[in-house]
Amino acid sequence: MTLQPQVFDTIIIGAGAAGLMCAGVAAMRGRRVLVLDHAQNVGEKIRISGGGRCNFTNLFAKPENFVSQNPRFCISALNRFTQHDFIKMVQDAGIAYHEREHGQLFCDNSATDIIDMLVKRCTTSGAHLQLHTAITGVEKLDSGFRVETDRGIFAGTSLVIATGGYSIPKIGATGFGHALAKRFGLRVVPTRAGLTPLTFEGELLNRIKDLSGIAVEARIRSNKADFTEALLFTHRGLSGPAILQISSYWNEGDTLRIDLAPGQDAFDVLITAKHATPKQDVATAVATLLPKRLAKLLVDEAGGPGRLCETGDKTLKRVADIINDWRVTPSGSEGYRTAEVTVGGVDTRDLSSKTLETKTVPGLYFIGEVVDVTGELGGFNFQWAWSSGFAAGQYV
Ligand code: FDA
Repeated sequence: MTLQPQVFDTIIIGAGAAGLMCAGVAAMRGRRVLVLDHAQNVGEKIRISGGGRCNFTNLFAKPENFVSQNPRFCISALNRFTQHDFIKMVQDAGIAYHEREHGQLFCDNSATDIIDMLVKRCTTSGAHLQLHTAITGVEKLDSGFRVETDRGIFAGTSLVIATGGYSIPKIGATGFGHALAKRFGLRVVPTRAGLTPLTFEGELLNRIKDLSGIAVEARIRSNKADFTEALLFTHRGLSGPAILQISSYWNEGDTLRIDLAPGQDAFDVLITAKHATPKQDVATAVATLLPKRLAKLLVDEAGGPGRLCETGDKTLKRVADIINDWRVTPSGSEGYRTAEVTVGGVDTRDLSSKTLETKTVPGLYFIGEVVDVTGELGGFNFQWAWSSGFAAGQYV
């Protein structure tokens, strides 16, 4: 006897940010919605995001804040459900929030406020959430999809994949969505860890390690990306917002150009110091711009000149160049263990930018981080989850 599947209009795999958003929107349209997830709890990444306070969107979100092989793909969804639409949802739910630098919005109390709001929208509109369920098979039928799990068989007219990226595997991240996309003949842009600390090896690491804990404001450039934010030296290499941002644009082998004193002409500072206090050590003069230990490392890198009066202008220029344009090549990144996002994913050429439905498999949708759209640091990744979830929710 074959088991009859339980029938829904829409099955969503993944009860994270995008999946919950999509479920609420579809259920409010009167669709019978089932959300499946293998985790014990919904929205685990929302829970741990923003240091437990969830940086849920950004006041200044715009398409330029997203990395993708097709930078224009995200425009349609972002325009139809903007940061202001999500902020209204948060306000309507009575969630207290505040703005931090660069337009980042965080909950005052806890990220669980956002999870509770999304779950409430799902359950009050009749969407069914089934957790702790392993997906054992997905099959395309003439009229939709059949999803087999260790807790029953389900059929749906449409199937939404919202299983996110690879980052933080210990809380349930898997490559399920990428593998399924390939199985259905879709292209997948090669994936790598994004918003992650960068690591160094050998002699450079030995020197950087000694600076562990030091933070400075820095301007970092790589592959046309350009960020000025805090940079942190760690025992494995470099971290801090500036490095996390650049990591999403950095490819193995690329050299980073780092201005450790943005807005200041280090050569000018050193020449002025040479005239005013000629007996001062070069390292002491550099320490007027940078923390002492960092100043010493950079001066050593330029050959370790002693007093300003004994140092030729050419050597001072070399020191200044290292301060304003320090060039370092990371050996790698800390990877998915600590990354906030996965760069790459389901190729947008195979998806409709309006509905997020695949062009070749009618009824199959991909939303959220599993798609090749990756936000910068600052609430942009959640905005993509909300916008893409909303867009698909209107059509599934
Ligand atoms: P998400 O990862 O949220 O959900 C995927 C769901 O699919 C999960 O519930 C998972 O269990 C489920 N799943 C996976 N594989 C499955 C399988 N095989 N079977 C069944 N279910 C499966 N962004 C931001 O904008 N602001 C922030 O403050 C932060 N902070 C932050 C901190 C940390 C530590 C991390 C790791 C990430 C962030 N992010 C962030 C990024 C943000 O969390 C992320 O981009 C979104 O959660 C992506 O939403 P999705 O719904 O696409 O995936």
